[in-house]
Amino acid sequence: MAYQTVKGTYDLLPETMVKFNMLSNLFRHFLELYGYSEIKTPVFEYTGVFKKENDTSDMVTKEMYTFSVNDKDSLTLRPEGTAGVIRSFVENKMYGNSELPVKLGYIEEMFRHERPQKGRQRQFTQLGIECIGDKDPLIDAEVIAMGYFYIKTLGLESIKVLINSLGDNESRLNYKNTLISYFEPHNEELCTDCKNRLYKNPLRILDCKIDHDKDIIANAPKMVLSEQSQLYFEKVKHYLDLLGIPYEVDDKLVRGLDYYTDTVFEVVSTNEASGSQATIFGGGRYDNLVKEMGGPEMSGIGFAIGVERLMILCDAEQVLDYEKNLDCYVINLNEDKDYAFDILEELRDNSFTSEMDYYGRSLKAQFKSSDRKKARFILIIGEDEVKNNVVTLKDTLTQAQEEVKRDKLVERIDQLMEDYYV
Ligand code: HAM
Repeated sequence: MAYQTVKGTYDLLPETMVKFNMLSNLFRHFLELYGYSEIKTPVFEYTGVFKKENDTSDMVTKEMYTFSVNDKDSLTLRPEGTAGVIRSFVENKMYGNSELPVKLGYIEEMFRHERPQKGRQRQFTQLGIECIGDKDPLIDAEVIAMGYFYIKTLGLESIKVLINSLGDNESRLNYKNTLISYFEPHNEELCTDCKNRLYKNPLRILDCKIDHDKDIIANAPKMVLSEQSQLYFEKVKHYLDLLGIPYEVDDKLVRGLDYYTDTVFEVVSTNEASGSQATIFGGGRYDNLVKEMGGPEMSGIGFAIGVERLMILCDAEQVLDYEKNLDCYVINLNEDKDYAFDILEELRDNSFTSEMDYYGRSLKAQFKSSDRKKARFILIIGEDEVKNNVVTLKDTLTQAQEEVKRDKLVERIDQLMEDYYV
């Protein structure tokens, strides 16, 4: 029986894997630049790590892969990175023995049982950070800046930064009551999900994908931030201005997860190739999550970038174009492969990416391979070369061909590479 990948999952084939690694490597560089250390948490956790009482998010209520083995504990495949990282922060008491804030970064697979479409998978990868233990507008701006400059460094142009403040606990509680009073008489006009959200988390009604075009949403009362939250938000904007980061304040931006407080943000693609899944990354501050997870009262902030959505945008803007090439291709024309095989290993030992023909094909076929592999140097080894302990070396850049003594080969290739550094 021939199998296929499970719906919503995919293979990262070699050409995509190269791009994936380029994105991960640049992200690791950014982690270092901004003082983050990498962390890996388990792929599955106790369900309670992700599922909090009265949670209304789609992710928690509908999309989690939850299972138990032998009727034991309820376990869940990680649908997002933040909760697991905070669990680890608390479990390992990082709040006590490290300098605050603790800055953690991750590159990990996530699992959500969503309806698959372009840019929306059931298994996907996030590049994320969490900065935990301190609350200051400077940190919020720095976190947004890190994500923004990462995207910009890739050379992407068609993006937009959206920010909003959901206020502190006090402003949100007041706003929640205002929204309940406002939406209650319109209950029948709301979709089923929003009816459920009304008393638990009415803020989520504002960015409902089904109801978002309705007048009742457009006319909903605006959040009134407490003086403290307003001041905080103004400072975040001030620091973003200082760093030259363009943004739009979107007062309907509430984000899909329940744990956010104060600053929230998203970076969306304005390129039509992204389709309906235009949010490249999102994040925000969470004042209550560390405490809810059994830790001290400490705030955190972070974001997560969806690698697959990022790759769609990179392809559309052709920013990750990469041509794989080879330093050396060894053409062997002898039945005996010892001499060529030995040279191949010596080349690799000296850090030249190298390949050879394994099958004793014709000279023409081997030249074709070296061409396809875009080899800079072709080493031709015939009967005479073995006899005289030399190699015929062709530089494909200059088309020059020369005979090189076996023990001078590495030195000569090094020299040619330096002369014509490309
Ligand atoms: P999120 O908005 O749920 O936030 O996901 C972050 C990013 O992950 C999205 O912007 C998107 O690029 C990508 N993503 C989400 N779902 C899918 C999917 N089904 N297929 C492909 N890509 C997807 C979080 O997960 C928060 N933990 C972010 C955060 C970190 N907030 C604070 N710290």
